[in-house]
This record gives sequence, C-alpha cells and structure tokens, in this order.
Amino acid sequence: MTAIALLAVVAGCTTIVPDAAPGARHGDPVTAAPPPRPGYTADGALQPWIEAGHGEIRRVNGAEGCVALTFDDGPHPTLTPRLLALLAEEDVRATFFVVGSRAQQWPDIIRAMNAGGHEIGNHSWNHPDLTQLGNDQVTEQLARTDAAIFSITGAAPDIVRLPYDASSPRVLSLISRPVIWWDIDTLDWKATSVGEVVDSAVRRARSGSIVLMHDIHATTVSAVRGIIEGLRARGFDFVTVSELMTGRPCRAETVIATARQG
Ligand code: NI
Repeated sequence: MTAIALLAVVAGCTTIVPDAAPGARHGDPVTAAPPPRPGYTADGALQPWIEAGHGEIRRVNGAEGCVALTFDDGPHPTLTPRLLALLAEEDVRATFFVVGSRAQQWPDIIRAMNAGGHEIGNHSWNHPDLTQLGNDQVTEQLARTDAAIFSITGAAPDIVRLPYDASSPRVLSLISRPVIWWDIDTLDWKATSVGEVVDSAVRRARSGSIVLMHDIHATTVSAVRGIIEGLRARGFDFVTVSELMTGRPCRAETVIATARQG
C-alpha cells in the first residue's frame, strides 16, 4: 500500500482519492491501481534494462556501479546475526531470500534484517523442489512464507527466489512477483576457503550484478568483508535487489557521463 493510500485509509476519507473507479460511491474502499513494481512497466512487462533468462531476472543493465549481494536459505541462528553486524559496520544493505519455516523459528533475526534496511525475499516455506509439487502446494509454500514474514515485519516480500534454481514454466506461471536469479554464482556452499569465495565474487562481478551466496555457511560469512572491500576497491556500491531493478546508477560520475552522451 502506498503512503498516500495508507493515509487515506487512516483518515477514513476515501472521497479525496482522485482516480476512484467509475461509479464508486462515498465510503467505497480505495481502488486506485498500485504503482508498477521496480523493473516493470505499468503493463506488467519487464523494463528493457532487466536481463532475464527463462522468466527469471539475472542482472540489471545500466545500474552502473551497483551490485546486489544476496544470501539464501537463512536465517541461521548464529551466522546470520554475525553477518548482519558486519553489514551494519560496513554500512551495506543486502537481500536475504529466507526460508519461511526458519523465519518463523527465528523472528528476532528477521526483525533485525528489516531494521537494518535489508530486503527480505521469499525462498519458500521449507525449501522443496517446487517443480515436483502440485500447483496448490507451490502456492502454499509461498503464501505461508509471506504470512510468516508479514507477521514479523508488517510487509510481505516483493520478490521470490526458487529453491535449487528448480524452475519450470508452470511454477513461474503461479508466481506474480519477480523471480530473482543471479549472474554471479560464488559456489560458496562448496568452497573450501574464504579466499575462494572472495575471489569468485570480486573478480567476476559487473555493474548490475546479482551475487548468489548463502548465509548458512561460516566460510561465506567470513568472506563477506573481503567481498565488500574488493568490490568497493573496484568502485562498486551496494543496493538491494529491488533498488537494483530500478536501473538507477550508483555512481554520480556515471550519471554525468550518461547525461553528456544523451
Ligand atoms: Ni536455497
């Protein structure tokens, strides 16, 4: 709900909403269309700067100097709080694709994520391969997670990531929100050293990259400071996935350069 719509509801003054449906009467609920999601047109099509494959968003062209760090499968009772403390120290905001059952188990960590300005995405209720489930079960996996997160933060996730990257046209057709893939897979879950994870993220990231990691591995959490330092040294700044999808650049110099070209 937008701030204006919320104010209208709070004030109980639905008559001031300018674009009420034709024939609407005083006291009818607010029916103004919601604004398009970041990265989408009003018609629901992906903006041209979004790079997608098989219906999933991989990278954002034009988000010059921006990188989105993403962490899947948490929250973890000790590693996620450690990661959140580190991100706060570094003043970096990231995106967490959380598992609903774990969010319900550790609500304080979800609350801390939200308070830290991080984005929270839906990564299903208990991490099944959704392509193996029936339509109702797929919907249930996402709806239960939405409800759990909503009950903790007051907002349901705007974005989804599929467990195991197991996708199909049928599963995607059941999801109306952006489904987020990545272009940089750090393979952190099988890395044997911190340096390996740091290197895979820092060396390969580009402007608009979405970097895949998991906050349930100690190696990953230990690698994050090196990743932040390495990417900052390359001139990158950090945004959430929804911020990245707006396509806005992170570097002022780039804005100037683009304006000159235009
Ligand atoms: Ni996962």
